[in-house]
Amino acid sequence: MTTITALELVHDDLKRVEEKMRGGVAVHYEQLGMVLDHLLNSGGKRLRPALVLMATRFGAADYEKSIALAAAVEMLHTATLVHDDVVDNALVRRGNPTLNATWPRGATILAGDYLFARAANLAAETENVRIISIFSNTLMVICGGELDQIFSGFGRTPTLDEYHRRIYAKTASLFAAGTETGAILSGLPEAQVQALREYGHHLGMAFQILDDVLDFTGDQAKLGKPVANDLRHGIITLPVILFLENRPDHPTIERILARETPEDSEIMAVVDEIRASGAVEAAVDRARQFTAQAAEALRLLPDNPYRRAMQSLAHFVVERSV
Ligand code: IPE
Ligand code: IPE
Ligand code: MG
Ligand code: MG
Repeated sequence: MTTITALELVHDDLKRVEEKMRGGVAVHYEQLGMVLDHLLNSGGKRLRPALVLMATRFGAADYEKSIALAAAVEMLHTATLVHDDVVDNALVRRGNPTLNATWPRGATILAGDYLFARAANLAAETENVRIISIFSNTLMVICGGELDQIFSGFGRTPTLDEYHRRIYAKTASLFAAGTETGAILSGLPEAQVQALREYGHHLGMAFQILDDVLDFTGDQAKLGKPVANDLRHGIITLPVILFLENRPDHPTIERILARETPEDSEIMAVVDEIRASGAVEAAVDRARQFTAQAAEALRLLPDNPYRRAMQSLAHFVVERSV
């Protein structure tokens, strides 16, 4: 099964999720409605809401609540991207100018805040306190991860453990929360709720490693966002960590860590060295280990089209180029 067919299983419901996300906002604030339209019209893979929906299909979830939950998770993701692009000074996202590229910084932050609040509002439609608690807790974890990347991430190379903690916080935590809350909504036994959480967690780890790999190997036009951006901003990700294991004290990387700004040609030269070193392949191998763990977690679940779709998604996240 390809990814496309995996996502086709929930294709119609994803349309409902998008409608739900658009609903209501423009009525109160026209500007914010336009922002949301711009963000939603520019694409995005909708991977997180698709995972939520699939998780809700293992049991007997209330349909409207499952749509609200998937919309809540994608809205939270959208809000983190708005703020992340401010933090990263990124000017392009999903092939379009970011909000911070056109709006004043303060207004961009407030728009992100609004989207966070709207996400919480959608999560509350599940009327399930456990889900709302997981949801708010995840947002705390994500913010902690982004702050950690700013404060302890700068100036030195993180250990593998630190790197894992950071990518869990910034990305895998939301994947895990999405599949876990979907499972809770569908009333599954606790062991299966935890299995779906484990699946989302490991899939999210692999997904973020690939995001970090694509920063080195990706094509900006295809990705819709700038490449080589992490290293340029002093963010040391897995390909660099693995590269430095065999090539410590690399002069350009040392300078980036010392907060100097090497010329673009120097940055691109390091990128070429990293690409040629085998570190990228080694990073992808580690991502594969995470997807194997994700697939393993699915064994506790009944065999059905959703489980098979989740299995094929695990394969997709390490093969993806977008
Ligand atoms: C981007 O996520 C941020 C990361 C956690 C890597 P996606 O790659 O899922 O972004 P969209 O939603 O498809 O644009
Ligand atoms: C994504 O991190 C931010 C969050 C998940 C909060 P990145 O900075 O790696 O994502 P991209 O590469 O800009 O999409
Ligand atoms: Mg970013
Ligand atoms: Mg990135």
